[in-house]
Amino acid sequence: GVMGEIMGISDLEVKLRDKLGINYVVISKNVNGTEDMIAEGVAKCAAKYILKNLGPHDKVAIAGGTTMRRIAENLVKDKDNEEGFEDVILMPTRGSVGSEIEIQANSIAALAAKNLGAGVEFLYVPDELDGSARETLMSIPDVRRTLDHLRVSDKVVFSIGRADMMARRRGMSEEDIKALTDKGAIGEAFGYYFDKNGEIVMKLNTVGIDIEMYKNAKDAIVVFAGSEKVESFLALYKLNKNLTLIVDEESAKEILNRI
Ligand code: G3H
Repeated sequence: GVMGEIMGISDLEVKLRDKLGINYVVISKNVNGTEDMIAEGVAKCAAKYILKNLGPHDKVAIAGGTTMRRIAENLVKDKDNEEGFEDVILMPTRGSVGSEIEIQANSIAALAAKNLGAGVEFLYVPDELDGSARETLMSIPDVRRTLDHLRVSDKVVFSIGRADMMARRRGMSEEDIKALTDKGAIGEAFGYYFDKNGEIVMKLNTVGIDIEMYKNAKDAIVVFAGSEKVESFLALYKLNKNLTLIVDEESAKEILNRI
């Protein structure tokens, strides 16, 4: 629209931040990029933002998915960056959610920690465990420590997905996907499927950050690329306005048109 043409990126960032009522917005500028280039541009912006804002003792929870994977790959310190991150701790937001190993939160936390020279804690608790097996795993000191640290994390970095796409990725049957979308599910984050009002329609049985922890998070950073996720974002952002949004330019403009 006219607005996008006459406004620079930083004006757009401020305008979007104010209209959403959140803490901060970073927009990745793009001109006719492929989907891949757009995703990479957003991930680079996110990595830069994290490097700039990372405190030397921060506990950082990072989610799974392809967006987080790209961010972790780009979390590389400048050679002249004297800042040490050896006291930073990376943690996965969740245990396994049954997706490919490279995009599981555990693997992404490990990669981010390696690139930063930081520490890492894991949550190796498989999904779909029954009561006593789950209790036993959750009583392991390492797992308890990770969960305790997740509750006091300084930053929570995550992406959002479209409900149908995430359900399909996680191997849900077409019949169940239809049931899920019939209930109004449009977005997904942290293993929760939401409707357009941010109401939870379904929750995965996986260990990690729950919705209350997310609502109380000190510094949440949501990163996404692609305007097909705008609806999911609009469903979720009101849950915690203590939020930074890092997004591509086209989606940013789409959000502005929708609020
Ligand atoms: O929960 C939503 C997913 O993290 C989004 O996954 O980054 O691969 O699109 P993605």
